[in-house]
Amino acid sequence: MPAIAYLECSRCHAHLAADTPQTVCTQCKDQPAGALYVRYDLSHLHGTSPRDVVGDGDLPWRGMWRYHAVLPDVEPVTLGEGWTPMLHSRRHPGAWLKEEGANPTGAFKARGLALAVTMAKHYGLRKLAIPSAGNAAGALSAYAAAAGIEAHVFMPRDVPIANYVEVTAYGAHVTLVDGVISDCGRMVAERKQQEDWFDVSTLKEPFRVEGKKTMGYELVEQLGWEYPDAVFYPTGGGVGMIGMWKAFEELEQLGWVKPGRRPRMFGVQSSGCAPVVKAFDDGAAASSAWQNPHTAAAGLRVPKAYGDYILLEIMRESGGMAVAVSDEDIFASIQDWAAHEGILLSPEGAAATAAYAQLLSRGVLDPSDRVVLFNTGAGLKYIDVIASALHLKAPGQA
Ligand SMILES: Cc1ncc(COP(=O)(O)O)c(C=O)c1O
Ligand SMILES: [Zn+2]
Repeated sequence: MPAIAYLECSRCHAHLAADTPQTVCTQCKDQPAGALYVRYDLSHLHGTSPRDVVGDGDLPWRGMWRYHAVLPDVEPVTLGEGWTPMLHSRRHPGAWLKEEGANPTGAFKARGLALAVTMAKHYGLRKLAIPSAGNAAGALSAYAAAAGIEAHVFMPRDVPIANYVEVTAYGAHVTLVDGVISDCGRMVAERKQQEDWFDVSTLKEPFRVEGKKTMGYELVEQLGWEYPDAVFYPTGGGVGMIGMWKAFEELEQLGWVKPGRRPRMFGVQSSGCAPVVKAFDDGAAASSAWQNPHTAAAGLRVPKAYGDYILLEIMRESGGMAVAVSDEDIFASIQDWAAHEGILLSPEGAAATAAYAQLLSRGVLDPSDRVVLFNTGAGLKYIDVIASALHLKAPGQA
């Protein structure tokens, strides 16, 4: 595992030291201050074969820590996150589904929060706070419990019940908020100083992106160290897309990916909350806060992403685009993939599969294009949401 050389601002490219906990850039002249990337000196790995460096060695299952050579040199707080299945679709010869529902806490949020809590423990932080649509709160609560650190979670009151149950069971301090994630974020920001909380909001500390970059390494490794043509990623705050793009840059520097074009990156949102899609279509450099956001895909109910400027740049540079799908299409895709592929998608994952179907029918993509669709969470975490969409009641309930 390499030592962290420095943290680099995504806006002004200032370098910050990583020997104490950092939040966002302290050098940016313009606000909001830039998110920070973790940088290492990886020169000793240049020209190596990933087969010699990546992997579990003699150790038992290590999940995303198989990429220890490109992660911070600290003792992991792990629950077995990462190395999730890459499932070839039974109907679409070009499509692979990355099953992130197989992570601890049933969502890809485990990767980012495993690393954020690992670093919090390393720095000796005692109290962490998070605004969340639900799954990030679940993941923080689990890893904080494992690390013996306090978790303070703020979620919308209408969060899926699984998230409420899990954070309570993990022993987190829970606040339910009448509002959406941005209202939760405001509450954390108002209280954190007085309460001595470290804020692990999306992109307001550097390690959630760094943990999620392992999705980029994994998808390339699972496809034989080759890029797919396209990646579909359900985008709320967009941390996964930012992390994967960072992974691609590192993979190219290391020479670990076969030469080829980086995948076209498709960010998928719900038409009930699509600020990044609007900004993409308008040719804007950043998004405006979406008014009255509503969607059953709880993780996509993010009115304004802190890193919107990064997402828009990635999608444009990669030749991808931002795509909106309706909640109707999301639930139709859940039923379709459950009945024909045996996979119960989360509503967010089903946004990706629905967007793939939309772009095939619009001729933007060809069925022979190799695409990776991210199911970012397990459908079973949304049992109340899916039951309601399918008009199902619990058996035995009048
Ligand atoms: C299942 C699921 N998918 C996607 C997202 C969106 O993730 P991000 O904020 O990293 O874009 C979330 C966020 O809560 C989520 O829980
Ligand atoms: Zn800066």
